[in-house]
Amino acid sequence: MNLLPSNRKRSANPGDNPQMVAARARVHTAGAYAPMAAAMVAELSALSVAGPVLDLGCGEGYYCGVLNQALPACALYGVDISRAAVRLAARRCPAADFAVASAFHLPLPDASLDVVLRVFAPSDDAEVLRVLRPAGFYLEICPAPGHLKEVRARLYDTPREHVEAREDVQGLQLVKRSRVQYPLALDAELLSDLVSMTPFAFRGHREKRERLLREALPEVSMAFSLHLFQKAS
Ligand SMILES: C[S@@+](CC[C@H](N)C(=O)[O-])C[C@H]1O[C@@H](n2cnc3c(N)ncnc32)[C@H](O)[C@@H]1O
Repeated sequence: MNLLPSNRKRSANPGDNPQMVAARARVHTAGAYAPMAAAMVAELSALSVAGPVLDLGCGEGYYCGVLNQALPACALYGVDISRAAVRLAARRCPAADFAVASAFHLPLPDASLDVVLRVFAPSDDAEVLRVLRPAGFYLEICPAPGHLKEVRARLYDTPREHVEAREDVQGLQLVKRSRVQYPLALDAELLSDLVSMTPFAFRGHREKRERLLREALPEVSMAFSLHLFQKAS
């Protein structure tokens, strides 16, 4: 469903474009984020939630697919502002319901969700708080310091590290923090897709990007922080 009113759009086709969506789908199919997805599933399975789960900025539905396998009894929803992403998500994970919508104006009732998941996507804390039921959980997954540091070092003159993920979200309490780190072996195609699906595709020097893709990179560091918050009951 497309639930994004045109007066809420800042461009004709907001969000990730079809090329980025396709690149991310190939990276996910290659298993590049599987260890992090396994940690995400472990976090959510331990909560014994039975109610609806929302994936904010769900992209092409990789995490909804993983969650559907792990928590088949839970209703799953995904929203993303990109039409291309939602179209692919609906095909890849028919068990979930997807909508083109903004994370800043969620088309969901107050206190309707047991879990909100956010993986590298923009979000609005007040909206998260509004749609979570009392005692509901919010899992925020962000890149941690060191994530893709080898790519950053080759693209920027003065590469900046990812900062530590935040521990405060107004109205929610941090109940658990964890970190997932692992090396990822790359071939030329996977490296190209990894660069295409991220802001690296547009930032940094074009010549450096072209050299990186030409010279290849056998391995990169993957590092994520998982912060689990809970709404008061
Ligand atoms: C870095 S991608 C992450 C996608 C997915 N969570 C994943 O990890 O595979 C960020 C996603 O947020 C979406 N996005 C950007 N702005 C958004 C907004 N205002 N509301 C909802 N989604 C948005 C993009 O279209 C893109 O799919």
